[in-house]
Amino acid sequence: MTPGQLRQHLESLAAAGVLDIPRLQLEGLAASAEAATSVSQAAAEAQEVPAAQPPSATVGAAGWVALQPLDAAMLATRQQQLQTLGTEVASCRRCEELACGRRQTVFGAGSPAAKICFFGEAPGADEDATGEPFVGKAGQLLTKIIEACQLSREEVYILNVLKCRPPGNRKPLPDEVANCRDYFQQQLALIAPEVICCLGATSAQALLDTTESIGKLRGRWHRFGNAAVICTYHPSYLLRNPAAKRDVWDDMKTMMRHFGCEL
Ligand code: URA
Repeated sequence: MTPGQLRQHLESLAAAGVLDIPRLQLEGLAASAEAATSVSQAAAEAQEVPAAQPPSATVGAAGWVALQPLDAAMLATRQQQLQTLGTEVASCRRCEELACGRRQTVFGAGSPAAKICFFGEAPGADEDATGEPFVGKAGQLLTKIIEACQLSREEVYILNVLKCRPPGNRKPLPDEVANCRDYFQQQLALIAPEVICCLGATSAQALLDTTESIGKLRGRWHRFGNAAVICTYHPSYLLRNPAAKRDVWDDMKTMMRHFGCEL
């Protein structure tokens, strides 16, 4: 990455609302900018100046572009549309039991320009209390998985099938999934990610309209509209079965390879 590309990358993150960059990631970016400078200096000295990058090509920490190259107006429109949908969801009473039991709805979080969406099942107690998806124990593990992919939560988008916490964290009922389908489909259509990563059977089966088990669905690519879909185990399952982390890591490597990024 050249210093110019670094500046552009930081500007596009800021435009996407990312104002906080982990120190390690920043050091990685700076190191690659420095390396690019010395490479281009050496090339210039040898009269072989590398071809200029197109202005929209920004390169992320892992050597690829994590965000869609949206201009400020497109980003603002998308943010506004998501906010409007979130406001509609906040007053939804399609599932009376869930609407009565929730403290608040949990719509989604992350960048509206994300190329990758992580798609979970439903909010738990911590999410119901904070309004943010994946912030409890399973969420902390998901954050580690995202960071192991050399991404940050701010560079991806995280959402769930259900926007309300089911009582006692029970599995969503088919009617509840049907009631929320319209919301998660609109959300995904607005973000238009390149890749959707389904976390666990509930989201994979809801998105792909199948009853196949997560064990059968994981480890290969599927499609939803224009998005490539990869399915993996839910972080809650990993908390109970740490041995399955190896499979999840394989799935994350497959996902990142889609972007030309070798983990
Ligand atoms: N599990 C999920 O599927 N989603 C959350 O937001 C939290 C836990």
